[in-house]
Parts: sequence; structure tokens; C-alpha cells
Amino acid sequence: MEIKKVGVVGCGSMGAGIAQLCAQSGFPVVVSEINDEFLKKGLGFIDKTLARSVEKGKLTQQDKDAIMGRIKGTTSTKDFADCDLVIEAAIESLDLKKKIFAELDGICPKGAILATNTSCLSIIDMAIATRRADKVVGLHFFNPAPIMKLLEIVKTIATSEDTMAISQKFGEKLGKTTVVAKDAPGFIVNRLWIPFLLHSIRLYEEGVASREDIDNAIQLGLNYPMGPLTLSDMDGIDVVKFVSDALYEQLKDPRYITPTLVDKMVAAGWLGRKTGKGFYDYSK
Ligand SMILES: NC(=O)c1ccc[n+]([C@@H]2O[C@H](COP(=O)([O-])OP(=O)(O)OC[C@H]3O[C@@H](n4cnc5c(N)ncnc54)[C@H](O)[C@@H]3O)[C@@H](O)[C@H]2O)c1
Repeated sequence: MEIKKVGVVGCGSMGAGIAQLCAQSGFPVVVSEINDEFLKKGLGFIDKTLARSVEKGKLTQQDKDAIMGRIKGTTSTKDFADCDLVIEAAIESLDLKKKIFAELDGICPKGAILATNTSCLSIIDMAIATRRADKVVGLHFFNPAPIMKLLEIVKTIATSEDTMAISQKFGEKLGKTTVVAKDAPGFIVNRLWIPFLLHSIRLYEEGVASREDIDNAIQLGLNYPMGPLTLSDMDGIDVVKFVSDALYEQLKDPRYITPTLVDKMVAAGWLGRKTGKGFYDYSK
């Protein structure tokens, strides 16, 4: 089976990026949202991102129009009826994702692959909400999806080799380097990254070094694009808490326990860049 048409559920940060990436790679895309307002916002975000590329001379106006022309927005799941692959990128809630998978199973062609972009939920739990667990896979993109080079392909105990091969080929068509992981908490990247991130926060919490020195040490000493505290502010302190809580819940490994400081920052509404304050102050 060849992927000819792609569906994306959710047009938030990740869904919009994934829809843009697929359309840029030549696929016709249907992207859904819960209402017209959210859909307009998501499509507007894609349009603005592409317009910036035109301004910078990275894309011609003609290319931009062609990419936007390949993206169809919808608020009806029925529009996924002719998609060969649907990538779910709705909010990180297992109950919601199970509902979406059951619905997609009833609407999509029998042979279609159903994928999730979940960061830390169990994919087999979504797969068993369908009658095609062999065709359910994790396609874990990184933010921003059109730019980040990695795609984690996640295999559950029920995912078939055929589904894995098609997913691999699809990832290559998107220009990504693919890695394969089992349906285990955090897959590869978050499993390794989260303890490191939490440890950096604990170092700051204990007063071992200033936030600037921790960030500079990692950025300049390890050649990372930015320090862990700056990155936490960018991702959102609430997101850091959500992911570490979810991983601790599944792994019961103390390395994943959310630092007290993170709990307190979330309680105070210091969620990072989006609220103007996190480890750093963005109010100015
Ligand atoms: N943000 C990241 O850095 C990142 C990275 C990798 C994976 N993820 C995962 O990607 C998924 C989406 O994350 P996000 O950051 O884009 O969240 P987001 O909140 O920005 O976007 C989610 C969107 O899904 C929409 N939605 C909810 N229910 C829907 C439904 N039934 N049908 C259609 N749309 C629906 C919401 O209205 C919202 O706009 C989550 O599972 C998250 O864990 C996020």
C-alpha cells in the first residue's frame, strides 16, 4: 500500500506543523479541528509560517500557493474517508485519543494506517479501540515538525511489519531520519531527555549554580542549541510537569519525579514564555 492522501487530527502546534510538512512533501492533506475558530487559527498559522519563508526567499509565492492548495481544513471526521494514513495530533488525553481512534476506524478505508503523535501515552491502548490494531503505529514528530529532522516510529506489540515498512517509507518521503522504538514510556527521546532535564532543574533548585550558568554550561560545554532551563520555558513548565508525571506514573522510577520547584511554578502560573515568566522573565 502506498500513502497517497494524509489526514491530520488537530491543527494545534503539532497538527499544523505536520499538515504543513506533509503538504510541502507533495501529499494532499485533510486537517481537522473541533470548530471553525480553531481551524482558522491553525490554517492561519501555516499560512503565516509559509509567508515568512517567502519573505526570506526560501520559498516562491507559487510554491506557497501550491502547498496551501494541498491542505483542506475540516471540522468533520467524515472527510478522512479517503485517507490512506491519518495522524492524530489532538491534545494529550488517552480517553480522547481512544475515542478519536474508534471513530477513525469506522470512517477510514479498511487498509488505512492510523497513527498517533502522542509524546508519552500507551499506543496499544489506542490500538485496541480499533479493529485494526496491526495498522496502528506511533509517528512521533518533534516541534516544529517541518524543521526537526527526527521521526520516532513506535511499534506496539500488535503493529505489523507491513505497517512499519510503510511508515518508514513515509518518514523518508517527508525527509526525516527515522528511528524505531517499542511502545514503552517516553520511547527513546523523552525517556532519555526528561531525567536530564529534571536533573538540571534540581541543580538550580538546590542552588548549585545560577540558571544562566546551568544553561551556558550545557549549551557551550555540550554544544546544545540552548540550555535546559531556556528550553523548558519554551516548551512550557506545565508541559514539563505533564510529561514527567506521566512517565513517573508508568515507570515508577524516581528519576522521573517532578521537582517541587516545577509544581510550585505551575501553581504560580509561571509557565514559561507563554505566560511571560518561567525560569526567566519575558515580560519585557
Ligand atoms: N508540543 C510539542 O512539542 C509536542 C511534541 C511532540 C508530540 N506532541 C504531542 O502532539 C499532540 C498535540 O500536541 P500540541 O502541542 O499540538 O497540542 P495543542 O493543544 O497545540 O493542539 C491540539 C489541538 O487538537 C485539537 N483537538 C482536540 N480534540 C480534537 C478532535 N477531537 N478533533 C480535532 N481536533 C481536536 C485542539 O482543539 C487543539 O487545537 C499531543 O499528543 C502531544 O503530546 C507535542
